[in-house]
Amino acid sequence: MRHVISVHDLSAERIVDVLDRAEGMLATARGEAVNDCLKGKVLGSIFFEPSTRTRLSFETAMNRLGGGVIGFAGTEATSVVKGETLADTIRMVSGYADAVVLRHPQEGAAKLATQFSEKPIINAGDGAGQHPTQTLLDLFTIRQQMGRLVDLNISLVGDLRYGRTVHSLAYALSKFGNTINLVSPEGLEMPGEVVEHLEGSGQFGIACHTPEDVISNTDILYVTRIQKERFPDPVEYTKVAGKYLIDPELVSKGPDHMIVMHPLPKINEIAAEVDSMPQAKYYVQAFNGVPVRMALLEMVIGGR
Ligand code: NCD
Repeated sequence: MRHVISVHDLSAERIVDVLDRAEGMLATARGEAVNDCLKGKVLGSIFFEPSTRTRLSFETAMNRLGGGVIGFAGTEATSVVKGETLADTIRMVSGYADAVVLRHPQEGAAKLATQFSEKPIINAGDGAGQHPTQTLLDLFTIRQQMGRLVDLNISLVGDLRYGRTVHSLAYALSKFGNTINLVSPEGLEMPGEVVEHLEGSGQFGIACHTPEDVISNTDILYVTRIQKERFPDPVEYTKVAGKYLIDPELVSKGPDHMIVMHPLPKINEIAAEVDSMPQAKYYVQAFNGVPVRMALLEMVIGGR
């Protein structure tokens, strides 16, 4: 495996392989076993946009496997503020490191970076584009919690227009055979190309504006934040902010086996009381970023 830019690069078989390997990493991810397969290797971690989970779980993954991490979170202390181009930044970091994890506000940045990199590039989110490693940990969590990746009714809720996690997840789920419902405030609907892909593969459920319309028939309620930073006009954001709230009453209307996922950060779209309900799986999901990214780094850097 070389670059990891989009879920389009990952076949269903490859995805299952990563998830199987991630399962084998669980004990090391928890600090209960030692695995130093990446000893002496260096990960470049360059984040041009804010991140908590993605950056820290990549760093934890690399450390747990005996490797080291260089990089930056925010460009304030780097030559980017002097005007250095993304191309030159990538040339430098890929010279120092064995793989480069990149998060950037511009869609297509990760793909562009591959042109200037001697080493594998891993896309940790490119604007409103894709977030393939989040999708791998989402799928890991789904398989862990539901026991399968097929024949599920998944309702994607929230900012489906600018949310990159739902773009990647919708494409990835469609590789397995599922029904995908799209629930968004008006104006934040899923991009046409994703909808067409779901329709074309016979996996499009319904599109609506309120989770009440899908809840009784939902196995997985995947909630997302309104992506405030991607709105060209802040007034448009205030029109949709707070449009939906996932509260205990709504969650209780779902089937008994239904789970609630969220890539996090959550702002005010999920009521705090939901956090302690057995259906809430978003903290487990966040932890799963570590074993999944360990498996990915072992494959990309370790060549296994
Ligand atoms: C997501 C992202 O950055 O796209 N966060 C994450 O990586 N877990 C979701 C978000 O910011 O809303």
